[in-house]
Amino acid sequence: MSEDILGLGLESSCDETAASVVKNGNVILSNVIHSQIDIHREYYGVVPEIASRAHLEVINLLVDRALSEAGVKFEDLHYVASTHRPGLIGSLLIALQSAKALSFVLGIPLIGINHLEAHLYAPFLEGNPLAFPFIGLLVSGGNTAIYRVNGTGDLEEIGKTVDDAAGEAFDKVAKFLDIGYPGGPAIEKLAKTSSSRKVFFPRILPAGDDTRFSYSGIKTAVVNYMKQNPEADRADVVYSFQERAIDLLVRRVFSAARAQGIRDIVVAGGVASNGRLRELLQEKKHDDENIIIASPGLCTDNAAMIAGLGYHYYARGIVNDLSLDVSARV
Ligand code: KG4
Repeated sequence: MSEDILGLGLESSCDETAASVVKNGNVILSNVIHSQIDIHREYYGVVPEIASRAHLEVINLLVDRALSEAGVKFEDLHYVASTHRPGLIGSLLIALQSAKALSFVLGIPLIGINHLEAHLYAPFLEGNPLAFPFIGLLVSGGNTAIYRVNGTGDLEEIGKTVDDAAGEAFDKVAKFLDIGYPGGPAIEKLAKTSSSRKVFFPRILPAGDDTRFSYSGIKTAVVNYMKQNPEADRADVVYSFQERAIDLLVRRVFSAARAQGIRDIVVAGGVASNGRLRELLQEKKHDDENIIIASPGLCTDNAAMIAGLGYHYYARGIVNDLSLDVSARV
């Protein structure tokens, strides 16, 4: 393909509405995000009904802004990509329906994107060359899993959480301690102020070949500890929690990569913006291993990753028709 390919990406799977124009799959021309964090803060979690209505209110405005910031007109677009799975059904519908309307009116292909695969694509929007296979650790509010990624659309699941996702545990612990929403950034900030810097919670799951994750036990451990030690310094508690939560991610991703003989390791999803996780990954990696991780702004939900990944489907002629539906699951 010699001419530049321009794709519009749309995202509304949870509590961020986003639109982005990407050129040739890896040049971000615009990346507009409307976060609903302030709307959901009082509930300490995303309320599905409220989320879908809020997406509907802003999606058209975001599309207009994404195009004008990119200096692109509707008729310049070659394809429109939208998340269609997994996520909240009522939320997913907003971006997908908008994408279908644009696809129909503009006569351009519609491409349905797996949100999890898109997260793993995010670092390739920042100059990292896309090469397969790689090990992908996806760690967000709804998912914690490791994949062997063999190619576009070819993800083999190696392991996943048996209960809560890591981000969910950060959010629940923060809610219990009443330190802020969303929990991940609140815990990371507070943990930095810990004076004891002691890790007193037990290690989550043993070392070894196990590929599972589990985050429900550590959450209960925090609750029990606070009941027994109501005067405990919350900074010390979240420091200890964060160290254990992150230790499991780091152990699992390196053992999966080494078992598969793969040296490129992609870490993605909202929790990948955690500074302590990023630091430990660099500290524990072998010299010949590459940690490929997006800058924090591209780790959380955005539409650039949707438009960017969409390019690779477009280039292969893998497109959808207007019967494409949403799905809560992968
Ligand atoms: O990928 P994301 O934006 O949304 C989905 O869940 O799909 O991830 C949001 C999750 C939340 O659970 C949030 O608390 C967590 O990512 N998170 C963090 C940090 N920033 C966001 N967790 C730990 N440390 C952070 N700095």
